Amino acid sequence: GDYRGQHRPQVHFSPPTHFMNDPNGMFRDGNGTWHLYYQYNPTAVVAGNQHWGHATSNDLYHWVNQPIALFPPRKNVYVYSGSAVVDENNTSGFFPNQTNGVVAIYTLAEFDQDGNAGPQTQAVAYSYDNGYSFIPYHGNPVIPSNSPQFRDPKVVRHGDRWVMAVAYPHDFAVGIFTSPNLIDWTPASNFSHHGLLGLQWECPNLVRMPHVDDKGDRRDDMWLMVVSINPGAPLGGSVAQYFPGTFNGTHFEAVDAAARIADFGKDSYAGQYFYGSPDGQDPVLMSWASNWQYTQTVPTADEGWRSAMSLPRRTHLAKSARVGWKLVTTPYDLSPVMGEVLASNNSVANGTTMVDFSDVPSNALYWELNVTGLLPEASSGGISPRATANFTFSSPVSGEYVRGGMFFGGDPTFFVDRGGVARGFDNVFFTDKASTSVVVSGGSWTMSGVLDRSVLELFLDGGVDSATTTLFPTQPLTLAVFATSELPAGARVSIRVNALRSAW
Ligand code: FRU
Repeated sequence: GDYRGQHRPQVHFSPPTHFMNDPNGMFRDGNGTWHLYYQYNPTAVVAGNQHWGHATSNDLYHWVNQPIALFPPRKNVYVYSGSAVVDENNTSGFFPNQTNGVVAIYTLAEFDQDGNAGPQTQAVAYSYDNGYSFIPYHGNPVIPSNSPQFRDPKVVRHGDRWVMAVAYPHDFAVGIFTSPNLIDWTPASNFSHHGLLGLQWECPNLVRMPHVDDKGDRRDDMWLMVVSINPGAPLGGSVAQYFPGTFNGTHFEAVDAAARIADFGKDSYAGQYFYGSPDGQDPVLMSWASNWQYTQTVPTADEGWRSAMSLPRRTHLAKSARVGWKLVTTPYDLSPVMGEVLASNNSVANGTTMVDFSDVPSNALYWELNVTGLLPEASSGGISPRATANFTFSSPVSGEYVRGGMFFGGDPTFFVDRGGVARGFDNVFFTDKASTSVVVSGGSWTMSGVLDRSVLELFLDGGVDSATTTLFPTQPLTLAVFATSELPAGARVSIRVNALRSAW
């Protein structure tokens, strides 16, 4: 692949060529290598002809593209989304001589001659070599079905059994199956009709999730259900929602039926957790940074590829009296790509900081704003409704810009706006603006982000809220302006901006 194109992200993963969608089969092997597979069409820059592409990394930023891992088994049958596990104890019987056998669990999607959807069934394949090559199980499928709406198995370990979450998309249901050996599966329960329904549910994840309780103590008795919806997102197209809850090995029970959106931007879908995080670390999530509404028309096709993954993110649940449960997400340790400090200012109250980053070879930035003494709650009692802490990245050549930040008014709001960027393609669904009500509850909070050519990710208040947004400016954005205004006396804003180093 050629990773030099103007839109090519430099710290995010994108496929060497052609079309990518969902992350699949992600796991960490016994050598500490992270494996990413992904829905891959190796023959076109639009969806179809699904294989599992593969890449590996030691730090989740520097990726090495590997040969395709799973191929369509026969004509008109494709390899859809799924997951992978390490079968240390040879429960499957595939691995008599090793403790590092890998099993991939995925959907086979059949089509008839005319392209009409046929049965979707669940299949497995095993790998003797840490996930670089797979042998499909001769007894596939392991879960037969006649339904064209049954896909995306995600398997985890719970006690003495394997547990699969798999979508019945048009029933708005997640099936939970259990197995002693990854081959014989028994339906245990269904989780359905919670939160947003949309047209269909896809790519469920059911994973144990650390949580920080009201007293700030870390606990490990919660589970998280993540369900992707497409179409039917509040902003249109695809979105992921999550449900905190408990799981007893057969049944998941959500704390409530509220719809909680995992990322309020428009480009975060089909997220999946890596199987096997380093001990004691928060689980690592990666999502597809795109949206089915326009993913097949974005202008990166001129560079021979389409779609990037999100940053890898560590996640945990937190509960506060004010906003209840939230999934907190922060970028996985960025130090392998962190570059020099471009600007640093400990006190920018009511002022601007400008950073010309036209000399940064990656054209990618990290920034962090730390705010103290500016309580959103105080806004009704004295802060000007126009008090803001904003950023704008622009091109001095074309005048295009993307911006975002915080407004303090009656309802403090965190927003991002990509409307200042020429679309470069014609798609009525490429919604410009996204915002969320601010939930920060302390007098100090942070706003940080990564701008990586065609992907922007924002994190508010240590990751309590986040937004992933793609953008396709015709010219590179090379000027950053951070501005604060009408802040009350005593409010203090510090800012640091770093160059990011290309991982490609
Ligand atoms: C989600 C999805 C999955 C399916 C895959 C096919 O984006 O529709 O449900 O397995 O993409 O590429």
